[in-house]
Amino acid sequence: NAVVRGVTKSALRRGWKVVGICDGFRGLVEGDFRGLDDTDVSGILVRGGTILGTSNTANPFSYALPPLGSPERPRDLSKLAFRNFRRLGLDALVAIGGDGTLTMANQLYKRGMPVIGVPKTIDNDLSATDVTFGFDSALAVATEAVDRVHTTAESHNRVMIVETMGRYAGWIALRAGLAGGGDIILLPEIPYKAEDIIKAVLERKRRGKKFSIIVVAEGAKPARGGMTVAKVVKGSTDPVRLGGVSYKIAELLDGRVGMETRVVILGHVQRGGQPTPFDRWLATGFGVKAAELVSKKMFGRMVSFRNYGFASVPLSAAVGKLRRVSPSAQEIRTAIGVGTSFGNSGVTG
Ligand code: F6P
Repeated sequence: NAVVRGVTKSALRRGWKVVGICDGFRGLVEGDFRGLDDTDVSGILVRGGTILGTSNTANPFSYALPPLGSPERPRDLSKLAFRNFRRLGLDALVAIGGDGTLTMANQLYKRGMPVIGVPKTIDNDLSATDVTFGFDSALAVATEAVDRVHTTAESHNRVMIVETMGRYAGWIALRAGLAGGGDIILLPEIPYKAEDIIKAVLERKRRGKKFSIIVVAEGAKPARGGMTVAKVVKGSTDPVRLGGVSYKIAELLDGRVGMETRVVILGHVQRGGQPTPFDRWLATGFGVKAAELVSKKMFGRMVSFRNYGFASVPLSAAVGKLRRVSPSAQEIRTAIGVGTSFGNSGVTG
């Protein structure tokens, strides 16, 4: 919403008309849209989500949504998307989303559509930008959760496991773990070893700390084994849905650390509510920058945030390769510096 507002307000000030496409690429393929004026975007800065709706399955190049397509027989309806774009008399398309959305946006651009991308995902896993819109808000929720489970952990002498989202990148778990003082942080980028997690909990116990907080990313996996898949969503751009690894961690601690373990899976709570002040600020900057790129006809680019400034990069540099946590990153060394374990004694940062 905050990006939609930023783009719309700055476009209207330039005297342009703005059309909102409903449910992302579904609306582009099916011709579902609405005009956006100043009153439509008033008051939405503080509202999470999108007034336009969204879809994680509507791919113009492999359309699986009924009635035009089906998961069994997806169809290439990109020509329809182009036809609707022309029919509406549009001069530019601003696509707001993560790797899947921006990959499709780049495909449309390569076929001639004037497209600008805006990086929006709580996973913070896009290349070519230091941060994506939505990440800070999810981080705030995850950090608050870590803060809150301390109460029960300390009072009941328990191991509390907080599971965050993030897909194949551990940014939310890493930063919430750092900000919330997590004792053990488990990331997809650093495969864990059961013995090392147990050792970390027991070591704390020896030092008189009768509880431990584990922050685990949904994509965390054991050194020998895969990620925990909750379900597969047929027809989705990335059909795999992760979730539930924390139950596996709880199981392997059971009877080994002399403490009870409890699990909290945050799920979509991280994607809801009001965006943080940083995210509202970032989204407004992204939106205004996107309109600026349109005015300069700099298409095929994604707005980005680099070294505390708004910039832009070619869409092709932003998609296809996820930005994940490096096990040798400064942040990993920072966490180890305050005694945090990554459940893998081989990692030193
Ligand atoms: O990519 C954003 C994200 O929230 C991931 O962190 C999570 O794995 C996934 O989407 C959940 O998808 P869905 O809302 O379809 O369950």
